[in-house]
Amino acid sequence: MITIKSAREIEVMRESCKMAAKTLHFLGKNLRVGMSTEEINTMCHQYTINRGGIPATLGYHGFTKSLCTSRNDVICHGIPSPNEFLEDGDIINLDCTTLWKGFHGDTNRTFFVGTVKPEMKKLVDVTYDCMLAGIAVCRPGAHIGDIGAVIEEIAHDNGFSVVHEYCGHGIGRQFHEEPQITHFGKKGTGVEMRPGMTFTIEPMINFGKRHCKVLNDGWTVVTKDKSWSAQFEHTILITETGHEILTTFAPEEWKPEDDKI
Ligand code: MF3
Ligand code: CO
Ligand code: CO
Repeated sequence: MITIKSAREIEVMRESCKMAAKTLHFLGKNLRVGMSTEEINTMCHQYTINRGGIPATLGYHGFTKSLCTSRNDVICHGIPSPNEFLEDGDIINLDCTTLWKGFHGDTNRTFFVGTVKPEMKKLVDVTYDCMLAGIAVCRPGAHIGDIGAVIEEIAHDNGFSVVHEYCGHGIGRQFHEEPQITHFGKKGTGVEMRPGMTFTIEPMINFGKRHCKVLNDGWTVVTKDKSWSAQFEHTILITETGHEILTTFAPEEWKPEDDKI
C-alpha cells in the first residue's frame, strides 16, 4: 500500500529528514584519514540519540549498527567495524536513517577521503548528478519509471553501470514502504506520482559492471568485479506543483550546537 501523508505527517517527516541530514553533515565534517568505521558509527549513534532520535538501522532485520558505511567496492549495507580504517584516496558512503516521532528520514552521501583518483571523483560526481536528475523529474502525474530512465541514461553516457538489486523506496512510519523506486527503467511506466507521497531516490552506480554479491556476513553488498561503487540518497515529498527534498537544511539552519555530539 502506498501511503499518502497528511499535512501533519509531512511536518514530522520534515523534522526527521532534517535530523538525518544534519547527522550526515556532521559525520562528513568529522571524517579523518585513519579513523575506523566503528568510530563513525559511534558518532552517528551518539549524535542521533542525544537529539532524541533513534538510528533506524540498529536492530533493523538484525543489522547491528547505527548506520551503513560502504567503502570503495562496497555498494551498500557495509557494517561499521573497529578493524576497517579510512585510507587516503578512499571513497566512503555513509547512510543515515533517523526515526523521530514515528517517522523516518533516510539520506546518504559518498565522501572523499583525502586525495581521490580523478576517475573515482568522476564516478562520485556522476552518481550525484544521477540522483539530482532523478529528483528533477518528480511531480504529480509523472511516473516512477521516469526516474530510472534518466538515471540510467546519465550513468550509461558516462560508461558506468546501475545496480539493479537494490532500490529506493517509499518511506514514512515504515523504513521501507511501497513503492519500490528502481534506478533503471522506462519513461511513462510504473506508479503515477501523487501529492503527499514520500520516497527515496538512491542510485548505486558502479565504475565497472552492474553485478553484485552479498558477503558471508549476510549484509555487505560488493561489486562482483571489485570495481568501486558510489551512491547518494535523498528522501523527497511530491507536492502539488512538483517536489521538495526533505533531507536537507539551509546553511543558516546549521547552529553552533549542531557541531557538538
Ligand atoms: N538506509 C538504507 C536505505 O537507504 C537501508 C539500510 S538497512 C540496513 O534504504 F539494515 F542495512 F541498515
Ligand atoms: Co533508503
Ligand atoms: Co539509506
